[in-house]
Amino acid sequence: MIAKETVDKILEAARIEEVVGDFVDLKKRGTSLIGLCPFHDEKTPSFHVSVGKGIYKCFGCGKGGDSVRFIMDHEKYSYPEALKFLANKYRIEIEETEQSPEQQESDNRRENLYIISSRASKFFQETMWETEGGKTIGLGYFRERGFRDDILKKFELGYSPESWDALIQKVVSEGFKENALEETGLAIRNDKGKLYDRFRGRVMFPIHNFTGRIIGFGGRTLKTDKAVPKYVNSPESEIYHKSNVLYGLFFAKKAIRDLDNCFLVEGYADVLSVHQAGIENVVASSGTSLTTEQVRLIGRFTKNITILYDGDAAGIKASLRGLDMILEEGLNVRVVLFPDGHDPDSYVHQIGSSAFKTYIEKNQKDFILFKTSILLKEAGNDPIKKAGVIHEVVDSIAKIPDNIKASVFIRECSSLMQMEERILITELNKLRLGKYRKDAKPDAPEPLPPPVETDLEPAARDSDNAQEREIVRLLLNYGHELVHWDGITDTYIAPYVISNLADVTFDDPVCKAVIDEYSRVMELGELPSVQDFITSPDPKVSELAITLVSSPYVLSENWYVKRKIYVRNETENMRATILGGIFHLKKRKVERILHSIRDEIQQETDADNQAILMQRYLRVKEVEKGISAYLGSVVIK
Ligand code: GTP
Ligand code: MN
Repeated sequence: MIAKETVDKILEAARIEEVVGDFVDLKKRGTSLIGLCPFHDEKTPSFHVSVGKGIYKCFGCGKGGDSVRFIMDHEKYSYPEALKFLANKYRIEIEETEQSPEQQESDNRRENLYIISSRASKFFQETMWETEGGKTIGLGYFRERGFRDDILKKFELGYSPESWDALIQKVVSEGFKENALEETGLAIRNDKGKLYDRFRGRVMFPIHNFTGRIIGFGGRTLKTDKAVPKYVNSPESEIYHKSNVLYGLFFAKKAIRDLDNCFLVEGYADVLSVHQAGIENVVASSGTSLTTEQVRLIGRFTKNITILYDGDAAGIKASLRGLDMILEEGLNVRVVLFPDGHDPDSYVHQIGSSAFKTYIEKNQKDFILFKTSILLKEAGNDPIKKAGVIHEVVDSIAKIPDNIKASVFIRECSSLMQMEERILITELNKLRLGKYRKDAKPDAPEPLPPPVETDLEPAARDSDNAQEREIVRLLLNYGHELVHWDGITDTYIAPYVISNLADVTFDDPVCKAVIDEYSRVMELGELPSVQDFITSPDPKVSELAITLVSSPYVLSENWYVKRKIYVRNETENMRATILGGIFHLKKRKVERILHSIRDEIQQETDADNQAILMQRYLRVKEVEKGISAYLGSVVIK
C-alpha cells in the first residue's frame, strides 16, 4: 500500500489541467477548460475541466472525476498504478506500507511488466555504455552512424550482449520472475522448456508509450547477413499493443502540439536522425502499416501530418491507398519525397540539419495533389488510364469529412488534370450516391427526393415548438435525476440532454431562454433548479415552467401511443422518454433542412447547381435515416 502521506502529496501536486492536458488539447472557455473527450468519439467538445474544483466532467459520455480517476480511466490503470504514474510525473518518492502477497500479485501484474521492461532497458544501456563488447560493438555502431551521445541517452538506446541468457541471468538473480520475462517477450521458452533471451547481439531501441514508460523493444542486428532478420521486435503483450503505439511519440508530443504538425517516418533510425537534427515532432509507425488508432493518437495533438517517405517510387505508389484512412479521420496530409535511394535518416546525414529543414519546407506537397500528379504522370496520354485517375483521386476526396475542404480539392485537382470541375463533381456525386444506395435497402431509393414526411399532427406541423417544449419539460421534470442507461453513470439528465443537443438551435425564444440558462448554470458546475424558472423575472419563462411542470404531456397522448411509449408511465422507461425527446427534436430539425433543400432544388434551373444541392440533400437524408433508425431502436427497447 502506498502511504497515506504520499497519496496526499500526490493529490496535492497533480493539477487537473496538467494531468488532463497531457492527453487532451484544452482550450479556455469561460470559467472552465474544454476539449474533445478522450473517452468517446466526438467532433464538438463536451469535455470540461474545472481547475478550481480539480475535476473533469464529460457532458457527452458522463465520465468524470479527479486527476487520479482520469489516469485510471485513460491508461486503464488500477488506483495504485495511477498514483505511481502521477508520483513519477511529479517526482514524488513513494513510501509504501505493507501489502499482502496476494494483493500485491494482482495489483502489480501490469506494473511488473513495466518494471521488468524498464529494468531490461537499463541492462541494455549499461551493457552498451559500460562493457567492453558493448562499447566497441553497440556504441561504436551508433556513433559510426552519426548519432550523438545525448540522443542515444535521451532515447535510452542500448545493446544486448551476444549471449543466450545474459538478461535472464541478470534479472532472475535480482528476484524477477521468469514468467514476467516471458510475458513481455524479453525471453522465449523453447520446445525443451529452456528459457533464452529474445534479443542477442543487437542494438536496442526501447519503445515508450506516450506517457514515457517502456513497453517493448526493437532490436537491430549488426550483421549484414541477409538470412538474419534486420529487426526483432517485442511481441504483443499486456502492456504493448503495436497498433496503438507510435515510436518516438513520448519525445515528440510537446513539439507536435507546439508546432501543430507531426512528421511521420518509417524507421527507428529515421526518428532518431530527424530528432537529432532539431526536428522533434517526429514519430514512426515502425514497420507496420499505419493504423486508425495511431492516426487518432496523432489526432489528439494535431490535425496535420506530414509523411516523410523513403524515395522508392514503387513503394510510394503502393502506400497511396493506405493514406486515405488518414483523410477519413479528418486530418490534413502532406508528403515529402527524398531523392532516390534516400530515407530521412540518410538524407539528413548527407546534407545536414539546416539544409534538411529547408528541403522539407520546399518539397512538402499536399497528399491529394501529390497523388494526382503521380497518377497523372503514370497515365500519360492514355484516355482510359486518365479516367481511372479521376476515379482514384475523387475517391480520396470523397473520404474527406469536411465538405468545404473537399470542394477546394475538387477545384485544385480539376486544374491539375485540366479537366472541368463539373466532371469531378459528377464523379464525386456518383460515389456518394453509390454509397448512399449501398447503405439503403435494395428497393430504395428513387433519385429524386421524396416529399418530406413529417410525423407531426397537422396542427403542430408548422412549428418545432412541440418538440422544443418537450425537451424543456423533460429538463424541468427529470433534469435532476441520474442517467442510468447505456453504461453511463455519474451524470444527471440535464447535462446529458443539453450536451446531446449542442448542435441544435432552439427557435422558440422562451424555450431557448430556458436552454441557455441551463447551459450557463452548468458551466458553473451547478444544476439549475425548477424553482429558479418558476420564479423567473421573465414572465414568459415562468409561465412556461409552471405549465410544463404541472401538465404532464405537451404532445397529444396519441402521439406517444403511436410511438409505443407508455404515456402514463414515462418514468418507467426513462431512457426511451429522454432519448425519444432528444431525437424527435433532432429529426424535426433535419426534416426542416430537407424541406428547404428540396425547395431550393425545385427552384434551381442550373443542372450543376442542382447536382450539388442533390448531393447535399442525400447527405442530410442519410443523417435523417440514421436518426429514424436510432429512434426506432430506442423506443422499442
Ligand atoms: P536502418 O536500416 O538501421 O536505417 O533501419 P531503419 O530503422 O531505417 O529501418 P528500415 O527503414 O529498414 O525499416 C523500417 C522499420 O521497419 C524499422 O524501423 C522496423 O521497425 C521495421 N523493420 C525493418 N526490418 C524489419 C524486420 O526484419 N523485421 C521486423 N519485424 N521489422 C522490421
Ligand atoms: Mn533506415
